[in-house]
Formats: sequence, C-alpha cells, structure tokens
Amino acid sequence: MSLEERARRTRALEEAAAAAGQCRKCAIGSQRRNNVYGEGDPCAQLMVIGEGPGETEDMLGRPFVGRAGELLNKMLAAIGLAREDVYICNIVKCRPTMETPGGLRNRAPEPQEIANCRAFLDRQIDVIRPSVVLALGAPAAKSFLGSSFQITKMRGRWYEGPHGIPMMVTFHPAYVLRQTGGEIDAVKRLVWDDLKQVRAKLDEPPPEPAFEQASLF
Ligand code: URA
Repeated sequence: MSLEERARRTRALEEAAAAAGQCRKCAIGSQRRNNVYGEGDPCAQLMVIGEGPGETEDMLGRPFVGRAGELLNKMLAAIGLAREDVYICNIVKCRPTMETPGGLRNRAPEPQEIANCRAFLDRQIDVIRPSVVLALGAPAAKSFLGSSFQITKMRGRWYEGPHGIPMMVTFHPAYVLRQTGGEIDAVKRLVWDDLKQVRAKLDEPPPEPAFEQASLF
C-alpha cells in the first residue's frame, strides 16, 4: 500500500472520527466521556468489530482497552497479529449505560442506537476495505446478519459480511471471561477454532486482478 493511500485513509478516518465526536443522536451521546471511534492500521487486512465501549474505553476514548481488550490482544497474538496490525472498533461508538442502585452499569446497545451509529461503522469499513471481518459476540453479528442469529449455534462459520467481505463470528472476549470451571477451556477451544479459520483466510492468496488490469501487460 502506498504512503499516499495510507495518508488518505488516515485523514478520512480522522474526519469521520471528528464527525462521530459531534454526534448526539442518542441519549448516550450526551452521557459519554469520550466517543470511542476505533483505532488501528488504516490498511489492515482484518477488522475486528465488537459491541460497544465499556467504562475503561469510555474513559480513555479507545476500544478494547479493559479486561476484554487484554484478552482480545492475546487472541490476536495467538494467530500472529499484534493489535497494531488490525483495525478495532465497535458497532456503537458511545458507552451504553444504565442507572442501577450501585451506579452506572454497562448494557447492550439498543437497536436504535446501533442504527444511529451504523453510518460511522459503514464509513470505517468503506475506508479500510479489510479482506476479513471478525465480529465479536451476538450484538455485532446480529447487526450484520439479523436478529435471528444465535451465537452458540451459528458462530465459527463464514458469512457474507458488510460490503460482501467474508465475516467470521466468534464469542466476545467478555463472554469468555465470564465463564467458570470447565466451561472456560471449552469456550476458549471454540474461539481458538474460529481464530484459526481467520488466520487461514488471511493467508489465502489475494483474488486474481480483474481482466482489464491483468491485460495491461
Ligand atoms: N467490549 C466491546 O465490545 N468493545 C469494547 O471496546 C470493549 C469491550
């Protein structure tokens, strides 16, 4: 990828992040400390899409920097990728919260919040055009595949994701962290199977160039 193209993508993402930072379409837009737009390599082959920022992410303005993020970093390392090699974002850019007697808690994003944020996600996908998408958890998968998606039955397969990009769905690292006893290893093994498929897809040779390009020579 040329330096010019890298710079163009960086600029495009910065502009889109600035626009997302102004967004107040949802109530959570006014409650957030930071808009958590996304981060990583603008020329990444792999785009990782999670659910939404948690407390640490909201505080730091960066995706997946809490406990789930630590596990995500390990998951990526297991298939030979550094966090900096990929692009990481969420289906919603503001932290979805609810009031409880114990204080503010994280919650899953509402369908309307996901819809309101979709243009920001689409822009990221459009600029980066990754060759593979990894959706983490049911909310991310449902946002692309519809509300009938059932993660326990349907993860671990290739789907036609956004812009027709091959998409793998696996368990969210926060879900892995919530497992106890023997379930931990069982769930980790499933995630490992899914990650190996991602590695294999990334290692596939790129598709043949279109005829007009090939015929230039
Ligand atoms: N969980 C997510 O889905 N996204 C984050 O950025 C952090 C935790």
